[in-house]
Amino acid sequence: MKHSNHTPAIGLDVGTSRIVTASKANDDFQYKSQLNAFVEVPWSKMTEASLKREGVPYVVSGENTGKLIIVPGNESSRFADLLQTESRRPMNRGVLNPSEPQNAAMLKQLIENLTEGERRQGLPVYYSVPAAPLGAEENLTYHDASIAQILRELDCEPTPINEGLAVVFSELEETNYSGIGISFGGGLVNVCLSYLAVPVLSFSVGKGGDYIDSSAATITGELTTRIRLAKEESFQINGHYADKLHQVLNVYYDEVIRATVNGLKEAFANSRNIPKMGKPIPMVLSGGTAMPKGFRDRFEKLLKESEFPLPLSEVRMAETPLNSTAKGALVAALAEL
Ligand SMILES: Nc1ncnc2c1ncn2[C@@H]1O[C@H](COP(=O)(O)OP(=O)(O)O)[C@@H](O)[C@H]1O
Ligand SMILES: [Mg+2]
Repeated sequence: MKHSNHTPAIGLDVGTSRIVTASKANDDFQYKSQLNAFVEVPWSKMTEASLKREGVPYVVSGENTGKLIIVPGNESSRFADLLQTESRRPMNRGVLNPSEPQNAAMLKQLIENLTEGERRQGLPVYYSVPAAPLGAEENLTYHDASIAQILRELDCEPTPINEGLAVVFSELEETNYSGIGISFGGGLVNVCLSYLAVPVLSFSVGKGGDYIDSSAATITGELTTRIRLAKEESFQINGHYADKLHQVLNVYYDEVIRATVNGLKEAFANSRNIPKMGKPIPMVLSGGTAMPKGFRDRFEKLLKESEFPLPLSEVRMAETPLNSTAKGALVAALAEL
């Protein structure tokens, strides 16, 4: 059936922690997201019955003794917590996780679920890809090509977009897409300086939310899933700590912010290709790791102390930090159509 309000394209944020889609129907942006994770356990009648009772969506795969129950996406977190186990992750540090044999298959399943009802032959999908780490020519070709392949198998027409640039497209229309976009994600921090919608300089920093979770877990002895839930529910960066966990989280948050500030300083000090902007430009912070209250203030303080060389008009949060990358990818797609 053909709808008159079909989205003309989809923006897809292929994040280490979450996959987000943006589409547009009747002039409104709409978002959907799934945790980029799953839990797999051997099938048993009991397990299947309890999942049914708990209302947890699952998939059964394999046959006979190889039969498995897979809980993909958002519900995997609750299921992992119930089983006191860690969820498995299709991606790691911004790219396909080389030690997860189901990496591409699970990604495909999650993207398929998220785009259900919107896919059609040749639908343009702009998907986010990370930038190379500062000073390294990391090979992102395999990751990039794998995502493109998955999208083609789903009948879509894939185009990659740099993650930091997507943040600029999402948030900086008022400066004609001049400014610095930063996405603080699960696996990486992605930075892009854009001048009139042209990406002038971009890089990634290999520390994000997962680094905070796993580092804190080694100190407190808890599962990383537990740490992540605590971090998302009640953590703020304000110098006062209710308990040991919050104090530990603060230490690693500072580490992520410092690594990013150092990256910014190094990238902008070394580059002879930075155009003369004429006037101060804005810097926008997005991504789940930037969500806790107090993050922006702490970041700006450490950035100021580093004597960042470029004049900034402001350092502000993105409007909806969890959706900026997907929205910006869609904005890029719509501009090309
Ligand atoms: N409300 C929140 N408060 C604190 N941290 C959050 C919140 N929501 C998500 N996060 C953290 O943000 C990270 C994921 O951010 P996201 O932008 O989705 O990353 P990615 O695009 O890399 O998947 C995870 O480490 C997650 O724990
Ligand atoms: Mg993301």
